[in-house]
Amino acid sequence: MIRVCFVCLGNICRSPQAEGIFRKLVQEAGREGEFHIDSAGTGGWHAGELPDPRTRATSARRGVVLSHRAQQFTASHFSQFDHVLAMDRSNLANLRALAPDPDAAQKVRLLRDHDPAGSGDVPDPYYDADHGFDTVFDLCEAACRGLLAELAATP
Ligand code: 4NP
Repeated sequence: MIRVCFVCLGNICRSPQAEGIFRKLVQEAGREGEFHIDSAGTGGWHAGELPDPRTRATSARRGVVLSHRAQQFTASHFSQFDHVLAMDRSNLANLRALAPDPDAAQKVRLLRDHDPAGSGDVPDPYYDADHGFDTVFDLCEAACRGLLAELAATP
């Protein structure tokens, strides 16, 4: 079982979007039995909430239905996942600071490090106009395809 957690700040926009896209790609590849997929936020303000209505609308329009409930990523989560995918460099720094040991810190990577055609942050769309949510979907989709290809190639 490959255990993957996508992490942003609030766990209501970017990371549940990446989780839903990755879940769909894994299902399309017929590999759902091989993965445990989740998402979380470094902040806990939205714990228990569904994704932001704008994220859900964009995602549903593009064929990915989201039903995740927000949760805060805590130090104890590191032992539950093999790969912790940060949406931006701020999330990356917060996660590395939270890691209880070097092994845990090494599990954290930027999601877009797995995008063969890009790099850098998935920008926070929370205070953005609606088009920011389509950008988030596009960036997450490209990186999730790359992530799945990498993990599928790992023995
Ligand atoms: P996310 O977006 O990190 O992509 O879920 C945000 C959601 C909520 C807040 C910030 C970012 N907030 O400050 O409440």
